[in-house]
Amino acid sequence: MSRTFYIETFGCQMNAHDSEKVVGTLLQEGYTQVIDEADASLILYNTCSIRDKAEQKVFHRLDVYKRLQGEGKRFAVIGCVAQQEGTKIFDRAPHVTLVAGSSSYRNLPQMLDRLEAGEKRITGLDDRDTDETFDTEFTARNNPHRGYITIIEGCDKFCAYCVVPYTRGKERSRTSASVLAEAQRIAQMGYTEIQLLGQNVNSYVDPSGKRNFADLLSAVGEVPGIQRVRFTTSHPRQFTKDIVDAIAERPVLCDHIHLPVQSGSSNVLKAMQREYTREWYLERIAWIQAAKRDISITTDIIVGFPGETDKDFEDTITLLDAAKYDSVFGFKYSPRPNTPAIHMHDAIPEEVKVERLAILNARQREIQREHYARHMDELVEVMVESNTLNPRGQFTGRSSQNKTVNFTMEPGIEPPPMGSYLDVRIDKIFPSSLAGFAASRPKAASPALLAQQALNARFTSAAG
Ligand code: SAH
Ligand code: SF4
Ligand code: F3S
Repeated sequence: MSRTFYIETFGCQMNAHDSEKVVGTLLQEGYTQVIDEADASLILYNTCSIRDKAEQKVFHRLDVYKRLQGEGKRFAVIGCVAQQEGTKIFDRAPHVTLVAGSSSYRNLPQMLDRLEAGEKRITGLDDRDTDETFDTEFTARNNPHRGYITIIEGCDKFCAYCVVPYTRGKERSRTSASVLAEAQRIAQMGYTEIQLLGQNVNSYVDPSGKRNFADLLSAVGEVPGIQRVRFTTSHPRQFTKDIVDAIAERPVLCDHIHLPVQSGSSNVLKAMQREYTREWYLERIAWIQAAKRDISITTDIIVGFPGETDKDFEDTITLLDAAKYDSVFGFKYSPRPNTPAIHMHDAIPEEVKVERLAILNARQREIQREHYARHMDELVEVMVESNTLNPRGQFTGRSSQNKTVNFTMEPGIEPPPMGSYLDVRIDKIFPSSLAGFAASRPKAASPALLAQQALNARFTSAAG
């Protein structure tokens, strides 16, 4: 069989972008990407283990595909479940040949050589203490309109519930010069939107000592051709006011901050080892709310952490009212292997978690319904993200605040290209989207970006 690969990706944007780098590395090594598992000589699963018995799901999937082994296919499990379960994967799924966590991707070319030499058990599991980052100029940019750049890998926070420090290893930043060089390459490819990535972007420490996170953010915004800069995720502990000031002053920096709070109760935050209190968090929210630009705030919340009382949960609900989030990702606490919280007493029964999550979502929906009304009649600049009409005859894009905007256009006008910008007059408000009509013609996306999209279109459906 020729050297072809199929990759499937689960998890966060960091993982999605890791897959772009892995794909680039494989293409560089002479492999060809295919969209059907049946055509692949190498099948890769880039896995996530953040919640919900993720490892069982991976084993189940591997079981299902075991029958393909007979056709001479090789299997690789990479990402967070690979790092977490390690060589246990070979025991449970003997048809797997390669198991590697994200800290080891730098060594992928060597691992691929060993795979081709016929080795049956190849691991990349021992690099979590590294200071090195996975920088590659061969990233396959599969996203049709957004260029991702990892600025910091790993996490040193060790929140009591979270697997990430164990699966992604030690926190390590790239030099600002290498980040800026990548931003320039992305701009030359025709991308106008960049998203800086890290489990904690504001823990960023430039190894060359030149720039802090806010300076780096501003510098990326100055790269010619770049019109939107986003970043995710921020940790409240190291969230500094200069980030808010940079956004307030520079329209190129998107007016959106994702600041996960996890709980509105200082007691629960302490048990979670988040290292801040409700008051500390609300002070950061107050900075954002006082900015001269309307900056959208979103968050993540875990309900049902061990020991969470009715009063603690009530504190989370009142925090929603204070922060007036534009979007909340709510999760039921899920006990994870290796984390301290798995040994904590006072587990919350599943039905209480379900109920609390429902209450949280219902309250947040009301808040969004009221709070989105501020956009009525606004002229909002939208970047087109889907140019096939939805059943209501609308195209879809996103505002700088990261809100979904569905819009109609005058009949007879060509569909706007993905990645192009236009102004939309908002005339309808929904709890999690806005709708309106195009008030300008799209500003054309660059030919380089359109060529890139055509090249990648076949594979984007494979990204999870
Ligand atoms: N680095 C980011 C979070 C990455 S994980 C941060 O610190 O904010 C994304 C989200 O998944 C977290 O914000 C948290 O809300 C949720 N999460 C992580 N571990 C979880 C667990 N064990 N159970 C439920 N939700 C969890
Ligand atoms: Fe997990 Fe906490 Fe690190 Fe975020 S900061 S990745 S929640 S340990
Ligand atoms: Fe999942 Fe790993 Fe991301 S656990 S959320 S893929 S860091």
